[in-house]
Amino acid sequence: SQPRQCATQPIPSILPAPPYSDHAHSHLVYGAVMNINRGNPGKFEVVVDSWPDFGAVLARQSGEMPVDDCYRNMHGAFYRDVGAYRALLETPGCLRWDTAFHIFGLQEGVATVSQAIAGTKGIELEISDYYTYMHPDPSTMPEPRLDPDIRVGSVSPAHVDLLNETWTYGGNARSRRYLAEVLSRFPSICLQDGTGQPICWVLTDPFGTGAHGYTLPTHRRRGHMQAAMVLAARRAQARGFPTFGHTATGNLPMQRLQEELGHQRLPGLCHFVLHNPSLGRAGP
Ligand SMILES: CC(C)(COP(=O)(O)OP(=O)(O)OC[C@H]1O[C@@H](n2cnc3c(N)ncnc32)[C@H](O)[C@@H]1OP(=O)(O)O)[C@@H](O)C(=O)NCCC(=O)NCCS
Repeated sequence: SQPRQCATQPIPSILPAPPYSDHAHSHLVYGAVMNINRGNPGKFEVVVDSWPDFGAVLARQSGEMPVDDCYRNMHGAFYRDVGAYRALLETPGCLRWDTAFHIFGLQEGVATVSQAIAGTKGIELEISDYYTYMHPDPSTMPEPRLDPDIRVGSVSPAHVDLLNETWTYGGNARSRRYLAEVLSRFPSICLQDGTGQPICWVLTDPFGTGAHGYTLPTHRRRGHMQAAMVLAARRAQARGFPTFGHTATGNLPMQRLQEELGHQRLPGLCHFVLHNPSLGRAGP
């Protein structure tokens, strides 16, 4: 059967709500659907194998995507049945296998199903694994401590070049456009020094993920990111969103920071599966 596209179905009501225990895998789709249900600023849609009793779901930006833009061509995946997930991905018209695109998800099948299909289609994959940290209750986070000369605001569109240059996975025109889009559509926190120069920021992506956290090297170890994350988490909580983020397995500073703030590392790894990497690349 054809995948059904139902951009406004109330999926959060049937997905397990955070904090997650044995259903720790739906948070990306959950965050994306919360955004869809609140005016859909990211212009997302969800694709399911059947409705309402779905076995697999993808959340992604709707509309035609450029072939080489894996920054915008991102899918959050969640399944209850891995066979249904594979069938959804293989349904003609569901995915364009000749484009660069990402699928993100915390379930093993997100990696293995793409590997199996890529094998039959002869396409390349690049899989990166991240820890996912989530906070069970941001109201218990410590009070943010900020120097008196630090100003708190949102990231201004004027600073998109700085974000793009400092992002490990950025530095090109497509990443810049993606960042500009995320900045204009979703909440961000930016700490600025007395002269208005941004020194630390954290964005929220279309899946509700805390992402693109960065402190300028000369301003590190002064508690800026800790403060920015507390402020971002409290705002997410006030908006009803879960607080979570993905961290590279080798990024010990960020892991330590989140553990000190009381985040819990979810079991398993979040798989970032990039299809056709030679057509374009990106990351968290
Ligand atoms: C990771 C990063 C965001 C931390 O920003 P920061 O403003 O320096 O962080 P804070 O000063 O708020 O650090 C708070 C706590 O985090 C931990 N931490 C931060 N940097 C650390 C480091 N280099 N080594 C060990 N622990 C570190 C410490 O526990 C620290 O508390 P302490 O300084 O009292 O020991 C910053 O180093 C950075 O921008 N790195 C490159 C981009 C990146 O990794 N982003 C995160 C992607 S998930």
